[in-house]
This record gives sequence, C-alpha cells and structure tokens, in this order.
Amino acid sequence: MIRLLSLKSGLRSYYILTYGCQMNVYDTDRMAGLMEKSGYSQAGSPEDADILIFNTCSVRENAESRVLNKLAQYVHIKEKNKNFIIGVCGCMAKKDGRRLVGSGFSIDFAVSPDNIAVLPSVIEEVYRGRKAVSVSDDTDDAGEFNALRVSSSDSIRSYIPVMKGCDNYCSYCVVPYVRGREVSRSLESVLAEARMNAEAGIKELFLLGQNVNSYRGGHPGGEADFSDLLRHLNEVPGIERIRFTTSHPKDISLKLIEHVAGLEKVCEYIHLPLQSGSDRILALMNRKYSMARFRETVESIREKINDVAVTTDIIVGYPSETEDDFRLTLDAIRDLMFDTAYMFAYSKREGTAAAATPELISPAEKSKRLSVLIEAQNSVSAMINASLVGKTLEVLAERENVKTPGQLMGRTRGNKMAVFPACGAVPGEIVRVAVKSANQATLYG
Ligand code: 5AD
Ligand code: SF4
Repeated sequence: MIRLLSLKSGLRSYYILTYGCQMNVYDTDRMAGLMEKSGYSQAGSPEDADILIFNTCSVRENAESRVLNKLAQYVHIKEKNKNFIIGVCGCMAKKDGRRLVGSGFSIDFAVSPDNIAVLPSVIEEVYRGRKAVSVSDDTDDAGEFNALRVSSSDSIRSYIPVMKGCDNYCSYCVVPYVRGREVSRSLESVLAEARMNAEAGIKELFLLGQNVNSYRGGHPGGEADFSDLLRHLNEVPGIERIRFTTSHPKDISLKLIEHVAGLEKVCEYIHLPLQSGSDRILALMNRKYSMARFRETVESIREKINDVAVTTDIIVGYPSETEDDFRLTLDAIRDLMFDTAYMFAYSKREGTAAAATPELISPAEKSKRLSVLIEAQNSVSAMINASLVGKTLEVLAERENVKTPGQLMGRTRGNKMAVFPACGAVPGEIVRVAVKSANQATLYG
C-alpha cells in the first residue's frame, strides 16, 4: 500500500543507461518521456534510482557483454535494497528478455523496442510483486512511434527516426529479428516533430532508419518516399541542416542523389555500408549488390554531389572469408577513398543465417585483419583531410572544446569534426572555418 502511494505521488525515480546506436538514444528519450508522464522523476545517478533501466544493443557480442558486466555490478545493490528494480529494454530485451528475467541476474522486467508504450504498466506490474516481460510482436506501437518529441539530449542536433525495423535479412545481422519489420512514420508526424525541434532552437536534423530508402510515409495526398520527405523538411524554418543514415547500397536511387545535390539544407554526406569488397562474400551476406554496382553508385554520388563525403561500414572475418577475399576489401578501402569507415570484426549472432556456417577464422586472425584494415582506412582519411587544408568550410558550432578554453568544436557539412578559435561565435551558430591543419579524425581551423 505504502509502495503504491509513493508511486502515485511521484516519489519514485528512474535512471536509464543507454548502449548502442542513435536509435537507442532516441528510444531512451521516448522512455524518459513516458516515465515522467507516469509520475516518476529522473535520478541523478544509477545508484540513486529506484528503477534502473538498461537500454541495450545486440548487434555484436561485445555490446552484449558490456551490458551483462554492468548488470552484474548493479545486482549487488539489489541484494542490499530489495526495492531496487532493474529492467532490460532495447534489442537484448527482445532477443533474450524471457531468459534474462528468469535468470540468476535478478532482473525484474524486460520490454522490447516495439513495446515501449507499455513500459509504465510493466513497472506497475513489478510493484504489484510480479516479474514482467513484454517482448511480443503484436503490440501496437504505431501511436507511440508517431508521437512527437523534442530532443532532450542535444540542443543543436536532433535525431529523428523516420522508419524503424529492417526487412533485408543480411545473413550476419540480428536487427530484423530484434527490431522487427520496416515501419515508416507518417510524413506529417516527421514534419511536425521537425517543426517542434526547430522552435526549440535545434539547427540540425539527423534522420534515422535502418534503410531510409525504404521510407514510405503516409499522408493525405498519398505516399511520400524519402526524397519527398527531404523536400518537405528542407522548407522547415529554423532548420539549417539535414542529414541521414543509413542508405542501403542496393536501394539508393538517382532521385535521392539528385535531392541531396539540389536541396540546400541537405548536407553532402552519404553513409553507404559496403561490408565487404569480395563479390563472393557479398553474396553470402545477402547484400544483393556487386562490387561493380557499388562502385558505380559511389561514382554517381561523387559526380552529382559537389564535395560529398562518403562513409561506410565494413565487417572483416565473415565465416569463410579467405585471405583473397580480405585483400579485395583492403583494395576497395584503398581505391574507393571513403572519408571514414566503421570497421568491425564479424560477431556470430544466434538465429541469423550466418550462424549456421562454421567459423574457420581464428579470433587472432580476425583482429589482425581488422588492424590492417583500420590502418589502411586511417591513411585514406588522413589523406582526404589533408586535402582540405587551405579550404574554408561551413561548420555548425556545437560546443566549447573542454581541452582548450576559447575554442569551439563543430561539424562540417561532410560530418567531419572541426576545432577552431571561437572568435565571438557561440554554439548553434554556423561559421566559416579556414582549415589550417588536419589529421585522420579532426580538422583544425
Ligand atoms: N558482426 C559484426 N558487425 C556487424 N554489423 C552488423 N551485424 C554485425 C555482426 N554480426 C555491422 C555492420 C552494420 C553495422 C551497423 O554493424 O557493418 O552496417
Ligand atoms: Fe542489418 Fe542488413 Fe538490415 Fe542493415 S540492412 S540493419 S545490416 S539486416
């Protein structure tokens, strides 16, 4: 009874630990909003909270190990304080929620990404003395997904999901299983959220989706594709920049490339995950493009969009990747000249198609290939950045440089970090920065 009273009077507090991608950062915002609406307040630290929520990632094994180690740490608090509640949300909740709640980890609840709308009622259930799991596929989350929110974690840039889920089933990837089928937000809901963020002072919109090219947003006039959405967002007053991720190379259209080239607020930045430079591995990965086609796409992007930055993702050590396959990836990194690449060692995910293939590459060999690739990409990035020395670039100032007072940090339209003397400018302003020096990661002006 006392417990319920304190719940109703809003005395209970929560804390959310966020792992993984920007979609999770956004989901944390959604969860925080629902918790506040239900009368909970945010605690200053995990230790001070009554309810600790882990918003988790499953894309690679090391992301899961980080969460499991941290969970073990907080279970000790639970041993001392029986009223301390621990819950798991995000991709691990979907994948392993039932097992985790039933395990020796003393986890009280699990809520999958599609079921965020029921988070407060799940917690109430726990306060009634029952462990609770909400990870089924049939919960209707459309209303919650289309609900509007202003970024709370960043005052300059707002991440806005335009679609969620993935129907591509790349053979190594757990995302389609944990994030479900592709669902797009309505055009109106994305536009209204963009306007709300602009009124709150946000300058840059970062649109999110596992494959933004699959965006099909309903609106009274019919259906909008992703290029149509960009055209509408380009008209939102107050927004200075728009960028997006991720484009699947098999789906990126000429129309989209032309929109990026033609719409002044849309930044010259395309993230195009290659994954491997070997056609044999690409086919095994179920990526549905060849190296030749990928190369043509990059050429068309560079031909149509002036000063475009192209970035990528690569996986090394996919099961059966030979030295020759790896060399093709290394060649691709050297000659496609990506501005940056996010590079990963293959991590086996149970339930995916690739998990059935025996892994013949030792962890040591995988790490070696990864280091060789990172080194190659670092020299490409350094070379590209060095070619920008002497140029003047548009930078959106984001924050003070804590290391050097009087300096600001911000990103170029190509999404490169720049550090420069403030000279009276403040975060949120767009400034022109003359690049004086550069390394593989940062431009100095
Ligand atoms: N192992 C390693 N990397 C993976 N990615 C996705 N699944 C795996 C996996 N099982 C990488 C891909 C994807 C990025 C977000 O994560 O490169 O583009
Ligand atoms: Fe995973 Fe492939 Fe979907 Fe990207 S496109 S989320 S790699 S299944």
